[in-house]
Amino acid sequence: MATDSNKFQAIISHCKEYGFIFPSSEIYDGLQAVYDYGQMGSELKKNIKDYWWKSMTQLQENNIVGIDAAIFMHPTTWKASGHVDNFNDPMIDNRDSKKRYRVDHLIEAHAEQMEKDGRIDEARGLLQEMEVLLGQDNFVALKELIIKHNIKCAVSGTINWTDIRQFNLMFATEFGNASADAESDNKVYLRPETAQGIFVNFLNVQKTGRMKIPFGIAQVGKAFRNEIVARQFIFRMREFEQMEMQFFIRPGSQMEWYEYWKTERLKWHLSLGIDPAKYRYHDHVKLAHYADAACDIEYEFPFGFKEVEGIHSRTDFDLKQHQEYSRKKQQYFDTEINQNYIPYVLETSIGLDRMFLLVLSNSYEEQDLSTEEKKDSRVVLKLVPKLAPIKLAILPLTKKDGLPEIAQQILKDNRGAFKCFYEEKDTIGKRYRRMDAIGTPYCITIDHQTKEDNTVTIRYRDSMEQERIPIDKIREIVLKEIE
Ligand code: GAP
Repeated sequence: MATDSNKFQAIISHCKEYGFIFPSSEIYDGLQAVYDYGQMGSELKKNIKDYWWKSMTQLQENNIVGIDAAIFMHPTTWKASGHVDNFNDPMIDNRDSKKRYRVDHLIEAHAEQMEKDGRIDEARGLLQEMEVLLGQDNFVALKELIIKHNIKCAVSGTINWTDIRQFNLMFATEFGNASADAESDNKVYLRPETAQGIFVNFLNVQKTGRMKIPFGIAQVGKAFRNEIVARQFIFRMREFEQMEMQFFIRPGSQMEWYEYWKTERLKWHLSLGIDPAKYRYHDHVKLAHYADAACDIEYEFPFGFKEVEGIHSRTDFDLKQHQEYSRKKQQYFDTEINQNYIPYVLETSIGLDRMFLLVLSNSYEEQDLSTEEKKDSRVVLKLVPKLAPIKLAILPLTKKDGLPEIAQQILKDNRGAFKCFYEEKDTIGKRYRRMDAIGTPYCITIDHQTKEDNTVTIRYRDSMEQERIPIDKIREIVLKEIE
């Protein structure tokens, strides 16, 4: 059985072995913190995305709509949003190893070790001090904190640190035909968040959709950050996807909506059947440049509690900035109170890849099935059926006697309704194990009795129980669970 510390490694290997995730351009030894989703991974990712999209648009009170904005945006967008000047992480370099660390990661790793050594109060004290100093951008005191606690570089083992400096996380590239003397005019950024595509379209959507406040705009799309210390598999990537929703509200109502969305978003996570004890809120002490309140929804990954989603009260910061930089009014006329104002915004922002890792961490189980007679085990992904890449495996017991023909007909009858998988090869036991490993909730086996009475055996992934059902009940059973 994998312990928590090696469970994570087991999940990474599992992702590769079963076609969930591959390192990007692996034949060239990969590209750090960039990953490709394989045949199973892309299905699972799409199912998570669809579930979020449906919950955040279709199932809302007719007041949240979706858009799909471009990745490239006018460069002034990022000046206005504050990302050019403020989207930085404090970094420190070790002079001996030349290795660069994000200051908060370096201190957090040390605090984690202290906790493991039983110095729990000391560790908490260190983290609290760090949060306060980060909130004040007090880099001199932060460096002193690192030295005082004798926090060493993991590579060189020394405390020969440089001063702490800020690094901007945005990727820049050239737009159109760059000429040497007009270089700066051609500079564009790969968006570091999808939110700005929503802000600059606020009035387009409001006017064409005749939206009334409060209303929301949702979006799923790629974002890019030049993370200096990219680590923990798909937890922190340089190219990733976000699922964001900006909710436009009356100024002054932000705390009410902040509490509302905090609760709603946690409910969404719990609707996936995940144990509430695996979640907690973490209030931000250091607020981003645009926020007047913010918290993270954290999940207990195999490497500890970490952020999976942010709930941010962004005030009118972004719209006000865009109004100023574009010189185009970003106001809304509220007919109920006869007032013009720039709306305040409540944001929910979740990383799709991080949610993918959460779902995998939560569903991965190594089970010992040994009996007195024989040793046995299995790896099973206990995915909720609606997220499973494949819903139904159709398995003829043998390759002859007309069984494949019946199985093929079942495949044709059901593949329009949900994703099915057909397989004839190997023993039925091996085929079941492969389906367990990719999280297929139902397997049906077609055997000789099928020819006599039109029934098949259905096997349930989690309990491994089997029962006979009529062929015409298959679709109903599967749809009941995934809808
Ligand atoms: N628009 C607000 C915003 O972008 P954020 O807290 O920086 O806020 C929101 O990011 C979410 O995006 C995070 O909670 C996380 O799930 C995901 N995310 C951020 N950086 C990421 C990265 N480098 N790799 C994967 N996911 C990331």
